[in-house]
Amino acid sequence: MHDFHYEGRDLWCEEVPIRDIADQMGTPLYIYSHRTLRNHFRVFDDAFSRIPHMTCFSVKSNSNIAILRIFIREGGGADIVSGGELYRALQAGADPQKVVYSGVGKKVEEIEDALASNILMFNVESFQELEVINACAARMKQKAGIALRVNPDVDPETHPYISTGLKENKFGVNVEKSLETYLKATKLKFLDIKGISCHIGSQLTKTSPFIDALDRLKKLYGRLQDAGLNIRYLDLGGGLGITYNDETPPHPSEYADAIIRASREISCTFIFEPGRVIVGNAGILVAKVLYTKANEDKNFIIVDAGMNDLLRPSLYKSYHHIQEVRKTQRKEIVAYVVGPICESGDYLAKERSLPRFERDDLMAVMSAGAYGFTMASNYNSRPRAAEVLVAGDKWHIIRKREEYGDLIRGEKIPNMIERK
Ligand code: LLP
Repeated sequence: MHDFHYEGRDLWCEEVPIRDIADQMGTPLYIYSHRTLRNHFRVFDDAFSRIPHMTCFSVKSNSNIAILRIFIREGGGADIVSGGELYRALQAGADPQKVVYSGVGKKVEEIEDALASNILMFNVESFQELEVINACAARMKQKAGIALRVNPDVDPETHPYISTGLKENKFGVNVEKSLETYLKATKLKFLDIKGISCHIGSQLTKTSPFIDALDRLKKLYGRLQDAGLNIRYLDLGGGLGITYNDETPPHPSEYADAIIRASREISCTFIFEPGRVIVGNAGILVAKVLYTKANEDKNFIIVDAGMNDLLRPSLYKSYHHIQEVRKTQRKEIVAYVVGPICESGDYLAKERSLPRFERDDLMAVMSAGAYGFTMASNYNSRPRAAEVLVAGDKWHIIRKREEYGDLIRGEKIPNMIERK
């Protein structure tokens, strides 16, 4: 459920017409609903209220500090994968003891910053990384909380680019070999082995892969207990899917019930790292139609948002629903919605039945709240879009539109190529 709906002919977010915001802010523009964001977080978090748990929002899915603050106010933590995400989470006011740090390639400086901030734990992806974290902690005369990210080798049945839990993927340590790695880790004196973690992929539309992964983790948990390790956290990652088109993912309560049922014999704090399920349907991208044309037998609608603003269709062939910001009675045509970028892969929709959009019409690209702005770039020297948060009948700019000056910030022309 989300708070984008039509009032008469106009698309609104909560109690504000999208058109009013776009008129003042220009396009392309990301718009998020505060109510949807907060409700989605609550629904997810409440679904696990029967067990000790922590909901650590996955910062990579939407890292605007205003949005992070909404979840922090609800008691959430943060799942981070870089020094930059740590910085954002702390700026937003996250409790470091609710921050978990995943990722296959953590740099020494990033590890040191995370240790200095006293985060809860690192989800460690290799033995070498364990050694590096141990050495950093030794230098800093403190202990580093760690979980080993294990790769349970289950098929999440999602797009191959966003599947992470198969043994051929680069992520984690093979679950079969992980006992040995844990035992080696016990010899590293500056590590506090706190947990087990795993994340098998994103946009999962069934509960069974999660439960298969959990079954493998449970076996490992038993072995680690037998070996005398005090495992206090089980981090099951993120990955719960949403409806973009006709997918029917489990409701968070269904997902939670299945996990709670399957983990009765485990007594530790569960950590979840949801991203998409919280923010995906809480945000849209608003674009304006620049031109329309027909080439050969194709209709093109050329809009002012491109793959630099929303990469998902180009990268994963993802479907995003497209709606009129003001409904018309126009006849439908089959069209390609494309952006201004100089790449044939720059599109938002292909062969889509859409009302015959015209120049200057506003278009809403739905379900763009997750991996939308965070994957945006300045390709073709396009300033990145503005972001707006709607709350009730008010709206707030949570990120200014970039200006041309932002594009060259940090660039320098050396004297040797001085202007002639
Ligand atoms: N935890 C870890 C360790 C992750 O790698 C991810 C996502 C998450 C949590 C959050 O997963 P979620 O709940 O959002 O599914 N750019 C792609 C998605 C990449 C996901 C990467 N990892 C997309 O636009 O579909």
